[in-house]
Amino acid sequence: MQRIPQSVIEEVRQKADIVDVIGQYVQLKKAGKNYSGLCPFHQEKTPSFTVTKDKQIFKCFGCGKGGNVFTFLQELEGITFPEAVVKVAEFAHVPLEGIDLTPAAPVDTAEAHLIELHEETAKLYQHILLNTEAGAGALEYLTKRGLDTETIKHFQLGYAPASRTFLTRHWQKNQKDDELMRKSGLFNENQTGELSDRFSDRIMFPLTNPQGKIVGFSGRRLADDPEQPKYLNSPESLIFNKGRTLYHFHEARGAIRKAGYALLLEGYMDVIAAWQAGLGNGFASMGTSLTDGQIHLIEGLTSEVRFCYDGDAAGLHAIDRGIGLLKTHSSLKATVVLVPDKMDPDEYFRKYGSEALVHLIDKQLMSPYEFKLAYLRTQFDLDRPQEKLAFLDQAIAALAAVDSLIEQDMYIRQLADEFSVDAQHILSRLKDLQQQSAAVRRPAVSPPHKTAAAPRRISQIERAEQWLLYYAIKEAHVRDYLRQLSEVHFLHEPYERLYLLIDSFTAQGGVIEPSRFVDLLNNDAALLQIFTDLMEMEFAESTPQVIDELLFVIQQGEIQTKIEEKQIQQKEAKQMGNADLEFQLTIDIINLRKQLSHGLN
Ligand code: GTP
Ligand code: MN
Repeated sequence: MQRIPQSVIEEVRQKADIVDVIGQYVQLKKAGKNYSGLCPFHQEKTPSFTVTKDKQIFKCFGCGKGGNVFTFLQELEGITFPEAVVKVAEFAHVPLEGIDLTPAAPVDTAEAHLIELHEETAKLYQHILLNTEAGAGALEYLTKRGLDTETIKHFQLGYAPASRTFLTRHWQKNQKDDELMRKSGLFNENQTGELSDRFSDRIMFPLTNPQGKIVGFSGRRLADDPEQPKYLNSPESLIFNKGRTLYHFHEARGAIRKAGYALLLEGYMDVIAAWQAGLGNGFASMGTSLTDGQIHLIEGLTSEVRFCYDGDAAGLHAIDRGIGLLKTHSSLKATVVLVPDKMDPDEYFRKYGSEALVHLIDKQLMSPYEFKLAYLRTQFDLDRPQEKLAFLDQAIAALAAVDSLIEQDMYIRQLADEFSVDAQHILSRLKDLQQQSAAVRRPAVSPPHKTAAAPRRISQIERAEQWLLYYAIKEAHVRDYLRQLSEVHFLHEPYERLYLLIDSFTAQGGVIEPSRFVDLLNNDAALLQIFTDLMEMEFAESTPQVIDELLFVIQQGEIQTKIEEKQIQQKEAKQMGNADLEFQLTIDIINLRKQLSHGLN
């Protein structure tokens, strides 16, 4: 579609009132100077969806979605920005003469060409798998593992033949640009500059970006050859960023929203098994723990992540780590499904069928604390008194992470019953531990002024980042102050990005108006959520002390996060018996801790 001139976009924006447009889709009631109704983006019984007339933006305090009139239609109807502008223009009777609505020719950028190469390569690999002699073995393997053609097509699976020159020759023959091929990550290059296929004799799992376009592959070896890695991934490229990619996430979005939770699995085959069982909301990270970027992708969509990893020791360890990550880096609620007998969800599905897997994932839910107990039980021999004590100590320590006092109370009673100890003793031990950790914890920032809007539950560091951005938007002298500092670093990547946008926009003389600024956010779910949250807040003016304190909390949070990362590495080093590394990490942690308490008292 042709570019719509900025002046036309402005005219459409002026003539259409967001209240009228959204009113076509949502029953809105006037509440004070705003309007509210049931959110169309998630299921709810009491209205938490608000439309603010004077700012011309909407915000849901339940699911976090927010934006202007264009974002609303884009999100609700899955259309592009120009398409949304056209829709609103029709509504507001703004003539769009001379604007052609047919799709434009594909954009001529390196990114677009790389994506095209990947999309075409995926089709080629699938053709080999489904229709050729070379793919027969791979097809037989997948069929044996219970995958039919429908599944193979949904996941766009393919097969990279054993020849190391198949893809290279194919694209050279079809006149693909040599430079483009080199940039794609689909080929290896030898010392003389000759190309060969990166993937050979592998089942190919295409990886898509948040827009659903193929940007890379993960290939599973077909031959039972322990010399080769089981999975081989595309390297990062202009279009492929591992930290922002989740397997099957784009396809799962609709189902996640409908189900009200995101089903996080460990392996690609588990995602496929869940999909076959009717659970379309399954997705997986790239065999590593979740990154901030991935967490924010999920946060834009739902408020619950359900972990269903392999039931073996490695799986339990990964869940434990994942729950911790979500707790410190997001407002997402975690729940856990334990697959029995150390199976992975895929094995469970093959053995017991769809209904059993759905039942397991729907009905056998554990809270993070229940999981923690189950996990700790696997690490201690409770028949030995010494280990029993160690277990209890850790079980009590973990209670500190339980936010609800009622829930805490319930677990205290359970522990007291099971181990025949006085509940009061457990409680006082918990208090001791909490006091100890409070002593080293970050200082509590209290808001300069209470906000009227109900904020979503976020960590203290994120809260500080939020306030800092708030002041950066509202107060020019705060922006000037931040510009003077040698570096302003946000812990969470979306905050950093939003800050940079605000900084460069205002540096060029731009004035931040809510509805206009939203257009610059490019429909990025995480940025929209943060920005519209900020627009609903009202704090008293900042003081230099408040700004410094916010910066301090963020900086301390960074150190704390580094410590947590080192602790995980240290635990792993210990398990691997790498004493040198363990020692080095201990030193690192001590040094970091010094920075942490420094300046606190
Ligand atoms: P199957 O063994 O075919 O059932 O595959 P799976 O998807 O169940 O894999 P598995 O449980 O062994 O591993 C879980 C995930 O970790 C995989 O889906 C990959 O994302 C990742 N992974 C496993 N092995 C490797 C490897 O050798 N290299 C890389 N980069 N990732 C791996
Ligand atoms: Mn498996």
